[in-house]
Amino acid sequence: MTNRSFLPGDDPPIVVTIDGPAGAGKTTVSRMLASRLGYRYLDTGALYRAVAVSVSNAGCAPDDLPCIQRVIAALEIDCQVSDTGALDVLVGGKAVTHLLRSPEIAMFASRLSALPMVREALLGIQRKIGENGGVVCEGRDMGTVVFPDARAKFYLDASPKIRAERRYLELAASAAAVQVDLDEIEAQIRQRDEADMSRPIAPLRIPQDAFVIDSSLLSLDEVVQCMEDRTRSLSGEKR
Ligand code: DC
Repeated sequence: MTNRSFLPGDDPPIVVTIDGPAGAGKTTVSRMLASRLGYRYLDTGALYRAVAVSVSNAGCAPDDLPCIQRVIAALEIDCQVSDTGALDVLVGGKAVTHLLRSPEIAMFASRLSALPMVREALLGIQRKIGENGGVVCEGRDMGTVVFPDARAKFYLDASPKIRAERRYLELAASAAAVQVDLDEIEAQIRQRDEADMSRPIAPLRIPQDAFVIDSSLLSLDEVVQCMEDRTRSLSGEKR
């Protein structure tokens, strides 16, 4: 992953973690925070999706563990921040970013993310990216498992109702809106929360020492400003 340089006198770059349930706004907030701090941005969901692309390209069935194991053993994942600030995920040197957002890959990534061998393989990659600090890491186990010693930890939450409304508005901009029902979206969100929080490996939890922000009644700018202020104050602290 490309590194940025920091000027002498700057606060030392630290690892910032942002965990939280689906639909809380982590991606937008993480990107904005990283840009304001001059940090890199790590979308760990994209790494899980990149694994799904690799496993799917290799033709492994979702329950063919030896096949998945072979792909994981040969996995070479890297991330690069493009000139526009977007994150490019490379597998074996080839950009796969454009393949990551399909519903099939999301579904496959979700299944694979429950496998210990997948989580273990990505653990080292994520820690390597964070080893020199200066990175905002977004996911579901950042402050609990991957970077338990991160200096600035956030847990971004919002009520299921508000998350459902946001998702509904997003979908309203697309043709899919014709088919969706707000109550149904809220029910799915509650179901996903339950699955994420109760899975045996790396369940979604509020990390110890995390600063919890409920974005239900806050604007995007208020959330990012709060995180920026807190991060700057924590990175300026002496250990
Ligand atoms: O955030 P996302 O939808 O891009 O994540 C894709 C899948 O990866 C999702 O099903 C949850 C999983 N994931 C995870 O288990 N741990 C993370 N740190 C990030 C994502």
